[in-house]
Amino acid sequence: MHLRPRRNRRTPAIRSLVRETVLSPTDFVQPLFVHDGTDDVPIPSMPGCVRWSLAGLVVEAREVWEAGVPAVVLFPAISDDQKTPGAEEAWNPEGLVPRAVRALKEALPGLCVITDVALDPYNADGHDGLVEWDEAGMPRILNDETVEALCRQALCHAEAGADLVSPSDMMDGRVAMIRHALDAEGFEDTGILSYSAKYASAFYGPFRGALDSAPKAGDKKTYQMDPANAREAIREVGLDEAEGADMVMVKPAGPYLDIIARVRESTTLPVAAYQVSGEYLMIESAAASGWVDGRAVALESLMGIKRAGADIILTYYAKRAATWLAERQR
Ligand code: PBG
Repeated sequence: MHLRPRRNRRTPAIRSLVRETVLSPTDFVQPLFVHDGTDDVPIPSMPGCVRWSLAGLVVEAREVWEAGVPAVVLFPAISDDQKTPGAEEAWNPEGLVPRAVRALKEALPGLCVITDVALDPYNADGHDGLVEWDEAGMPRILNDETVEALCRQALCHAEAGADLVSPSDMMDGRVAMIRHALDAEGFEDTGILSYSAKYASAFYGPFRGALDSAPKAGDKKTYQMDPANAREAIREVGLDEAEGADMVMVKPAGPYLDIIARVRESTTLPVAAYQVSGEYLMIESAAASGWVDGRAVALESLMGIKRAGADIILTYYAKRAATWLAERQR
C-alpha cells in the first residue's frame, strides 16, 4: 500500500497545514434584538438570546466587537400599539432602530451596523409587506406599494448611520429601488446586503416568537421561496446582483448548504448565510439535554456553512463562537 491519506492527518501540526477551511470571528455577524424598555429581557423562545434595552444593546455590542466579531444586525420588537396596517413606524426617524443605530455608531464607530429592512415588526398583520385582504379573508401582499415603503425604511436607517441595509422581505425589484433611493439622497456609500434566496422555512418559528411577528393570517409562501427550488435561487441572486446588491444571502443555512455552494459558484459577490433561530435552537436544546456537545456541534455547523461557500455567517453563536475560536488549539 503506497497511498495512505492518513499521513496528512497524523499530527495536529500536519492537520493544521492541510486544513482547507478556517473559521474566524471575522466571518460572523451577531443578530441582536432590541426593544423600547429599560430592562434586558431574556427571550423564552430563544434561550441565550435577550431583548436588549438601548443601554444593554451598547454593552452587548461592545462585547461582540471585543470578541473580534465585526458586525451586528438589529431586529426590533415593536409594541402592539405602534403596529399599523401601513407600518408607518418603520420609517419614523425617532423610532427604535434609528435610535439604536445612532447609539451604536456613537459608542463603537468601527462596528459595522446592519439593519433589517422588512415591514413585519411594524405591520399589524405580521407580513413583510403591505397587505390587501380578499373576500375569503386571505392576505394578498402588495409588491410595488411595499417596495416604496421599504425605500423609506432603508433611507431612515441610512440617515441614522447604518453601514448596510438588509432587505429580508423578498419583494421583487426592491434592491434596485432601494439603491436608487439611497443614491438620490446622497447615501451612495450605504451598502445593501440582500436576502436574495430566502426560503419559506419552518426554521424561523422561534424568531417569530421572539418578536411576536408571526403572520396573523396566511403564510409567507407567495414571497419567500419554495424549499424545493434551487435554480430559482440562482435567478434571484442574479437579479439582485444586477440591481446593485453589494452582498447576497442564503437563508436558512444548514439545511440549504447545496444552495450556498451553487450561489458561491454563480456570483463573484460576497455570499452570506443565515444560521436561523430554529437551527440554533435544535443545537441548544440537544445540548441542554446533554445529548450532544453543544460547543463542538455549533462550531461544526458553522464550519459546514463556511466550507459550503459562505463568506459571512449570521449566527446567534457569533460572540460565543468567537470566544471558543480564541481558545482553540491547533
Ligand atoms: C423577517 C425576518 C425573519 C427572520 C429574519 N427576518 C422571519 C420571517 O421571515 O418570518 C428569521 C430569522 C431567524 O429565524 O433566525 N423579515
